[in-house]
Amino acid sequence: MIPFKVVGVGPGHRDYLLPVALKAIREADLLIGSCRLLDEFRDEGKEVFPYHSNLPELLDFLEENRTERQIAVLVSGDPGYHSLLNAVSSRFPEDAYEVIPGISSFQVAMARRGKSWQDDLLVSCHGQDFGEIIEDVLNALESGRRVIILTDHRWNPGAVSGELLAAGSEFRRVWLAESLTAPEESFAETTLEALDGNREEYRLCVMIIE
Ligand SMILES: C[S@@+](CC[C@H](N)C(=O)[O-])C[C@H]1O[C@@H](n2cnc3c(N)ncnc32)[C@H](O)[C@@H]1O
Repeated sequence: MIPFKVVGVGPGHRDYLLPVALKAIREADLLIGSCRLLDEFRDEGKEVFPYHSNLPELLDFLEENRTERQIAVLVSGDPGYHSLLNAVSSRFPEDAYEVIPGISSFQVAMARRGKSWQDDLLVSCHGQDFGEIIEDVLNALESGRRVIILTDHRWNPGAVSGELLAAGSEFRRVWLAESLTAPEESFAETTLEALDGNREEYRLCVMIIE
């Protein structure tokens, strides 16, 4: 049986797509992914199965189709970082799939910051309540560690800043890394105080707090 591939396609721009990932995409008969990612590879002319955040449906589809066709499941960034790998590895045996790594959004954000990140706390509030991780974030900041947060529409930088200030954190330097590698990319320094309550629509965004 040919293993299906879970392919990390990086943060967006083709320059950040690994050649091995492009090879996996080109060898596949069928691509699965969000509409945004499938659009990126429309010129490959592959059959596609759009993923609309219905995880059980995606896993069932993989189960039913994996023996018939070479499938590539496309995910943004790296598949092992707040992505599909937990679900895939819970459902399928290890020899059923192969993982192609990708460059993660947090790696690009830290490259823009120009600092190493091995001592930092990496967290995500994409699809998870910030209340569940705020203690870890406060403790890390208190002990002098940098915190890198993947934000989402609900827990955007304004909401995260409001929670941190309400919990007593103040005077922190913050960088917002938005739409990384896209033409509209921005990387800007600000503060928790300036972001607090900001209701602006953020794009894909990684928040760095020091
Ligand atoms: C479900 S997580 C997936 C993370 C992905 N596996 C990775 O390694 O980057 C989605 C979050 O990643 C961040 N993200 C992904 N692509 C990004 C980009 N191009 N620019 C900024 N943040 C990005 C955003 O915080 C977004 O809400």
